[in-house]
Amino acid sequence: MCGIFAYTGSKGSEAPDILLKGLISLEYRGYDSAGIFTPESGAVKTPGAVAELKKKIPKGFGGKSGIAHLRWATHGEPTEVNAHPHSDSTGEIWVVHNGIIENFKELKKKLEASGHRFVSDTDTEILAHLVEEHLKAEQNFEKAAIAALNDVRGTYGIALQYKGEPDKLIAARMGSPIVIGLGDGEHFIASDPSPILPHTKSVVFLEDGDVAVLTPEKHTIYKLDATKVKRDPTEIDWSAEEAQKSGYEHFMLKEIMEGPEVVENTLRGRLRADGGAKLGGLEFVAKELGQIERILITACGTAYYGGLVGEYMLEEFAGIPVEVELASEFRYRSPVLNQKTALIAISQSGETADTLEAIREGKRKGALTLGIVNAVGSTIARETDAGVYNHAGPEVSVASTKALVSQLTALALFTLFLGRQRALSPQKAAEIAAELRALPAKIQKVLDDREKIAVVAKKYAQARDFLFIGRKYNFPIALEGALKLKEVSYIHAEGYGAGEMKHGPIAMIDENFPSVAIATKNSVYDKMLSNIEQLKARKGPVIAIATEGDAEIAKTADDCIYVPPTIEMLEPILNVVPLQLFAYYFAKEKGYNVDRPRNLAKSVTVE
Ligand code: F6R
Repeated sequence: MCGIFAYTGSKGSEAPDILLKGLISLEYRGYDSAGIFTPESGAVKTPGAVAELKKKIPKGFGGKSGIAHLRWATHGEPTEVNAHPHSDSTGEIWVVHNGIIENFKELKKKLEASGHRFVSDTDTEILAHLVEEHLKAEQNFEKAAIAALNDVRGTYGIALQYKGEPDKLIAARMGSPIVIGLGDGEHFIASDPSPILPHTKSVVFLEDGDVAVLTPEKHTIYKLDATKVKRDPTEIDWSAEEAQKSGYEHFMLKEIMEGPEVVENTLRGRLRADGGAKLGGLEFVAKELGQIERILITACGTAYYGGLVGEYMLEEFAGIPVEVELASEFRYRSPVLNQKTALIAISQSGETADTLEAIREGKRKGALTLGIVNAVGSTIARETDAGVYNHAGPEVSVASTKALVSQLTALALFTLFLGRQRALSPQKAAEIAAELRALPAKIQKVLDDREKIAVVAKKYAQARDFLFIGRKYNFPIALEGALKLKEVSYIHAEGYGAGEMKHGPIAMIDENFPSVAIATKNSVYDKMLSNIEQLKARKGPVIAIATEGDAEIAKTADDCIYVPPTIEMLEPILNVVPLQLFAYYFAKEKGYNVDRPRNLAKSVTVE
């Protein structure tokens, strides 16, 4: 995810040095380009790392204040011209931005009509031009910034600077975190506290709709209606590493905790009022998609399990035959594909070698290739004909968690998109859309209860084996629950379709072999209850993932982890979260390196 750092102080010409050091402490977020601006020396930007940026900065580059950014591309390739900071047409106003401006296309059209010229493909550049436009009318930087922010829709965390008032910085937040550092004769703006901590422990976390105006000596916070508001400072005693993890002990936990935000970011601007989905990346292949007769989904690991859930969604609600295949199998056999087949690759990194080769094979055979990819500009994103970006932000922990939550959300959107092209009724689509919107709050409820999951994980931490079972939409989630536990805890865990249990695996069950049963209230609930009874009859301990308020299941299962109710199609998005937490706490209890499990790599770029 992009990183912001800005500084204003009265210490001679030190701003570039302070800003570059700050960018280095934000590097952990993952990025593809970097840039810096000071009113005295102008802007320097580059694709690549902060080390590249340093090389490009000319001798004598100085300033008492400035803004800096690490970009993780969302709109436009990671090039020098798309790197932040971006300026208005006069080169007087400069901005760095995290988030997505949803109405940037319509704003850009209007501004172009009144003579503005844009140089980048980004949504961010619009912000500088809007401030320029309002500055003409307002003749006041603060008022112009607030007016510009009232024009935009979407998410932002920003830092703004105007050459006319070089020691002043403006920060604003809407959906993308911004923290202000309060120093002695200096102020800072950052997307998380890590670059601020070496300078001061006293910070103010902005709330959505806050606009902060900073000079070296003082800070004032306004709301978007220009009224002043007071925010109390917080003293934080995190280490730099803790700050990168937002105070969580591990990236894995931080990323699981990002679930609600991830769903919001994947959905943002993509649900139509009529229940359909607006997927910009698919618009230009919408006609071909309307004519496809079959979908093949290919992926590896966790992303493959996401694909299996997609099969249930797409067949039930879009009425299209779907097959899902491991990319490592697909590429080595002779799959039958043609122009009426859409081949979808799901990949967090967009670089997984097997998935990439599967897509290349699909292309050779004439299929329409699509990507559901998190990493913008990655090879799979570039080589597919069209696609949907996840917007989940970079995943640092090796075990994939938030990426799956986002992949499932994207698949639900894709189902709405294809479903509305076919037989899905507007009423049913609207019902699904409403449930999608309700998911972030429901995930938050599961997360708020995480200590209970930690207790259950601790209770079973001595087990050597685990069975995970589920049916229908929750069958792939059982597979994922087992994979997560294997990866981070090095415990033997098997995922099974619950109905398949009696065809073999039940032979393993005894009092030392616990099972996790996903048994939420849905169309196969009664069947799951019978499966739990079968396990109990063999003395197998059972942890049930159950729907809130289900007292019945608590009579049979040894432990229950409750989740709020949702429609069956979306249950996987909710039910996977307690399984991720279970694996996390289990591994933590064992004292393993949760974020870097042995033998695993984050991006599998070899066969
Ligand atoms: C599991 C995990 C892996 C990845 C798989 C695909 O936690 O991280 O199973 O899901 O290697 O990676 P991407 O999605 O990058 O193609």
